[in-house]
Amino acid sequence: MKQLIILLVITSMFQQNIAANAPEWGVTGHRTIGEIAEKHLSKKAKKQLEHLLQGQGLAIVSTFGDEIKSDDKYDKYYTWHFVNFPFDTKYENSEKDKNGDIVMGIEQCVKILKDPSASQEDKVFYLKFLVHLVGDLHQPLHVGRSEDKGGNDIKVLWHYKKSNLHRVWDSDMIEFYNMSYTELSSNAKTLSNAQIESIAAGTVLDWTYESQALAKKVYASAKQDDKLSYDYSYKHFDLVRSQLQKSGIRLAKILNEVFG
Ligand code: ADE
Ligand code: ZN
Ligand code: ZN
Repeated sequence: MKQLIILLVITSMFQQNIAANAPEWGVTGHRTIGEIAEKHLSKKAKKQLEHLLQGQGLAIVSTFGDEIKSDDKYDKYYTWHFVNFPFDTKYENSEKDKNGDIVMGIEQCVKILKDPSASQEDKVFYLKFLVHLVGDLHQPLHVGRSEDKGGNDIKVLWHYKKSNLHRVWDSDMIEFYNMSYTELSSNAKTLSNAQIESIAAGTVLDWTYESQALAKKVYASAKQDDKLSYDYSYKHFDLVRSQLQKSGIRLAKILNEVFG
């Protein structure tokens, strides 16, 4: 009996630790974005990416930004995964994190990819990071409030299991839907060329404000200790899928410009 209790305690500690370190968008979300982007690449961009990534697709490299969190050598990039600024303030006028944020991170990745004097090694690193960050930017709560760490502090139950609002949007809803990244990407909504162009229009900052506007709605959708289940996905999963698709289209736009 005693051994059983010890085992249960250890298992529960382990589960909570996994919850605390949940990757952003989860692997399926990030891979879906990479796979959708792949379908929107120009021939020229595709060829150069294949060379740089040695044949690995964007879906494979999309999770790199989270994988490197296991190596403290990369701790300085922690703040690149998100940006929090007050909802009534312009990003330009807000107080910046001295270690950088997702807007600066994407800018820096693009700069290095465009720099003819940058090393091949750096280009590969920042390319993989770019694929990841354009994904993160489209998770609304990555442009959230600093007070609750983008919803990480808003504890909720997801189908009776402990979770938090941030994690529900990163991965719980996607995992519950139970489709692979290839299924999610091949079942993305059919869009006209005009719709694709309209999604690809704008700047990283425009997309940041768009995510922030969505974050306000996400915050209004749930509160501390809410019990979320089927009806939450029913109301919100279309937005998750649409954000994954937009992110893929916009990632391809950036890559087509860089490698065009
Ligand atoms: N930590 C603090 N703010 C965060 C956010 N918006 N997203 C992810 N992690 C965070
Ligand atoms: Zn996240
Ligand atoms: Zn991330």
